[in-house]
Amino acid sequence: MPGAPTFLLLFLSVVPVAAGAARLMQMLAGDMSSSARFMSMPGPVLLHIVAAALFCVLGAFQFDAALRRRNRRLHRYSGRLVAACGLLAALTGLWMAARLPIPAEQQGPLLYAARMLVGLCMAGTIVAAVRAVLLGRFDQHRAWMIRAYALGQGAGTQVLFLLPVALVSGAPTYRLRDLLMASAWGLNALVAEWLIRRRRRSTAFI
Ligand code: HEM
Repeated sequence: MPGAPTFLLLFLSVVPVAAGAARLMQMLAGDMSSSARFMSMPGPVLLHIVAAALFCVLGAFQFDAALRRRNRRLHRYSGRLVAACGLLAALTGLWMAARLPIPAEQQGPLLYAARMLVGLCMAGTIVAAVRAVLLGRFDQHRAWMIRAYALGQGAGTQVLFLLPVALVSGAPTYRLRDLLMASAWGLNALVAEWLIRRRRRSTAFI
């Protein structure tokens, strides 16, 4: 049975993964009315949705210390897939932010800049995590994977930031939406650094 942190991470993944599945269905059904923007470059969008969902869901289990101890081989094999999916999600995210015809109310300059920064940092942290594990530097590997996963899970935290505002005053757009989306990534990055420092001070893992 996975521990509480894994359940929390899976809970955060529910809405982004469900939204991705719904978008995937619309695109596969050729529904142009609601998916026109995404149909303008379906390849990266489909890759992004599938890779990001696998990264969030499988990644949640990688942080379960008991599971890792019980089955190191599973952690290693699943880890390769998680790293590849994370890299793909980050790179397709960068691609879409730059090339999709996203209307200004859905992505202004702030969100564009945040997506560029997060996409590059997420790809960089995954490369650093893979390098660290190949060199046998497991503490560094753990820290880089926490950072990468926290950036990927920005999608989950964004739901928590956007939903209350949407319920009170309608779906946020323009600068407010950009700010909420970017702040969610900022919060996740801070939580990641806190977890890494807490781990260095004690032997407990998240
Ligand atoms: C790894 C966790 C992530 C998940 C679960 C995720 C999920 C999704 C989903 C489901 C969509 C489709 C949204 C829709 O149908 O309206 C999407 C779109 C998008 N994602 Fe991600 N994503 C993740 C990470 C990222 C990252 C790191 C970036 C930035 C580099 C990014 C950039 C984008 C962009 C630019 C779009 C298109 C937005 C639009 O056209 O309005 N994503 N993502």
